[in-house]
Amino acid sequence: MNDFTFQNPTKVLFGRNQLEHLPEELKNFGTRVLMVYGGGSIKRNGLYDKLMGLMTGAGLTVFELPGVEPNPRHTTVNKGVAICRENDVEVILAVGGGSTIDCAKGIAATTLSSSDNVWDLVEHKVSYTEALPIVTVVTIAATGSEMDTGAVISNMDLNIKSGIGSPICRPKVTFEDPELTFTVPAYQTACGSFDIMSHIFDVAYFSNQPQMDMLERIQEEVLKTVVKYAPVAIAEPDNYEARANLMWASSWALNDFLYCGVRQMTACHAMEHELSAYYDITHGLGLAILTPRWLAYILDENTAPKIRQFGVRVMGIEATDDVMSDARKAIDALADFCFKTLGLESHLSSLGIGEENFEKMAQAACRGGELYSFKNLKKEDIVNIYRMCL
Ligand code: NZQ
Ligand code: ZN
Repeated sequence: MNDFTFQNPTKVLFGRNQLEHLPEELKNFGTRVLMVYGGGSIKRNGLYDKLMGLMTGAGLTVFELPGVEPNPRHTTVNKGVAICRENDVEVILAVGGGSTIDCAKGIAATTLSSSDNVWDLVEHKVSYTEALPIVTVVTIAATGSEMDTGAVISNMDLNIKSGIGSPICRPKVTFEDPELTFTVPAYQTACGSFDIMSHIFDVAYFSNQPQMDMLERIQEEVLKTVVKYAPVAIAEPDNYEARANLMWASSWALNDFLYCGVRQMTACHAMEHELSAYYDITHGLGLAILTPRWLAYILDENTAPKIRQFGVRVMGIEATDDVMSDARKAIDALADFCFKTLGLESHLSSLGIGEENFEKMAQAACRGGELYSFKNLKKEDIVNIYRMCL
């Protein structure tokens, strides 16, 4: 395993009664707040009124950026930058999921840069060395953006979903109240749950790299947690235990801890980001469609033992002497979980996606070279995997 440095300073306030501490946490950074949020779920479920009451009651001045899109657009980030600069905003409050939090990260870094366009940061035309502080109120268990350093931003003019990443973007404080996720619809619960699993698969688990047994086993326990609780949350949206487990699993799946000592990979994420960039599909759905096909494509004598281990330890299949057959059963069990248990769509063609852009998407996913993965993928491999998803 490689040497590593672990430092995750995000302060997390978890549970039902933590939001009352929001004003004091914000005031540690200033009194002029930009509240960033999505397309309206927080107004429908009452969270908007609750937060506004808390903040204005405590004497905070609140500016607003509503309407952040799922797969947040660079143009929306730029609107937030203008609001921050015009109003001397001191702290950003992101209320929502990965899209809202990522938008807030883009705003935070761009505002203190020399550009008014986040895309200059994405393209490394402008450096970013400091950012406005970010506080988050998480409303969906999925990306882990509430504790990580990355922000994924979409430029639909260019069909590019890319982003920025730096410790300066990591949220300072995060509020996680599982009750806030009771209103997440079944479809988004399913997509978010698979995203949690995919972070573990993609970044560390499905790999030949030597890593700590302890971390590998914790990865498996987090995966088992999602396999257990995602169906419960879908069947009983207000099951606190299920929502709490998913919420904490999502934060820990991508907060650096599980990957200590491994070189990070991004196979299905790189391929999915192209699907979103061209077709604006939901991130977790794209990952669910891709992952079983990717595993089937890379299955060989080298990859089979780990895929089988996943099947036995996480999906509960019975081990036999036939490693290859067990690995196939593991992939089938994962596909069943995605498409039957979670109820997600299984084919790109059902989403109206054909193969017209596959060459361009594959070229971008591997950046014209090889996509580093459990088994490295060249452009033609990626095209083949996309075709398997049709
Ligand atoms: O916009 P609103 O109206 O709030 O509705 C949202 C949105 O439609 C809804 N929702 C969220 N909380 C809700 C709710 N609906 C009812 N009740 C609630 N409590 O859910 C929908 C999806 O929201 P979004 O924020 O897009 O979901 P998610 O958290 O999955 O974020 C996806 C984005 O994050 C990026 C993805 O690529 C995508 O752009 N990622 C960010 C990562 C990171 N920063 O580290 C890593 C990930 O791999 C991922 O790439
Ligand atoms: Zn993801």
